Amino acid sequence: MSSVTVESGSNIAFIKYWGARDLERVVPFNASLSMTLDTCRSICSLEFREGETTADEVWLAASDGSLRRADEAFSGRVLRQLDRLRDHFGKSGRMVMATRNTFPSSAGIASSASGFSALTVAATSALGADCSGAELSRLAMLSGSGSASRSVFGGYVEWSDRDEGQAGAEPLRDESWWTLHDLIVVVDTEPKEVSSRDGHRRATSSPYFEQRLRDVRGRRMRAALRAVEERDFAALGPVIEEEAIDMHLIAMSSSPPIFYWKPATLAVLDAVRRARGDGLAGWSTLDAGANVHVLCEPQTSDALASRLEAVDGVVEVIRDRTGGPPVVRQGAELLERGGL
Ligand code: DP6
Repeated sequence: MSSVTVESGSNIAFIKYWGARDLERVVPFNASLSMTLDTCRSICSLEFREGETTADEVWLAASDGSLRRADEAFSGRVLRQLDRLRDHFGKSGRMVMATRNTFPSSAGIASSASGFSALTVAATSALGADCSGAELSRLAMLSGSGSASRSVFGGYVEWSDRDEGQAGAEPLRDESWWTLHDLIVVVDTEPKEVSSRDGHRRATSSPYFEQRLRDVRGRRMRAALRAVEERDFAALGPVIEEEAIDMHLIAMSSSPPIFYWKPATLAVLDAVRRARGDGLAGWSTLDAGANVHVLCEPQTSDALASRLEAVDGVVEVIRDRTGGPPVVRQGAELLERGGL
């Protein structure tokens, strides 16, 4: 029997994956660029019992250590990924896994990137496979959560469009290169009504999608890469805000349209713009949801967070920052704590 626990940070995309040529094989239309997060993580404990044939088990761990069975939709995705990994490495045996997020699951922050990264790294390690980062990234991507391919690395990560994105993600610079803060402004705690998967599927129906691809594959990605390479926040900020608004413009003009924003989303975008006018440099980006990630430099973070907490409709501000790669420990702590 082999048991491990893995912690993996979520990530926030500066250049977004939005739209897939082939959703089943997770082939994106364009390259994406992200920063791995530190505070918002998924923890996954996994036990592999070689040769055992009883069914796998998927548990959700609460912060008090108790375990409950995951619902069918979630366990279905996990079980499919476990099957894929066992097949890939030619192993047979039973897996028991438990997972939890360090951030409130009600906060509406995408947890599938960190969750499937942690699961993939944990299962690979429990299976005794020695994988390169590139292979882990490709395997994480096959979970269906393309953004998970980026969370297997720390710092700044590009999921390039080499081999149409099938090559997986690559680390550009590790977390020590540049510390940025990400103030995650929570305005909506409900799960999003339209999944990213549906968003990817509908993206090409927007009349503006071709224009987006020209920008995002060309000048916008070049500008973002250069800004990370030169640690130039004044150059990076406008690019990430333009990119997020462009992605949401595609969502809003898709058929049928997708509106992720809530009134408080606009209030936060406005507050960030006004703060800039007062010398507090923060720039906004959004995933497929209503919550706003405000990127800033460490020295601006406290003052900006206080301002954002005061905006009407803001539930909380989670203070995150550039994070490292997944951490692997021996022992299935979540399972042991839960009494399994
Ligand atoms: C808007 O297909 O990776 O976050 O499985 O929900 O994590 P999940 O979505 P995925 O699409 C990510 C969409 C995005 C942009 C991005 O992270 O690149």
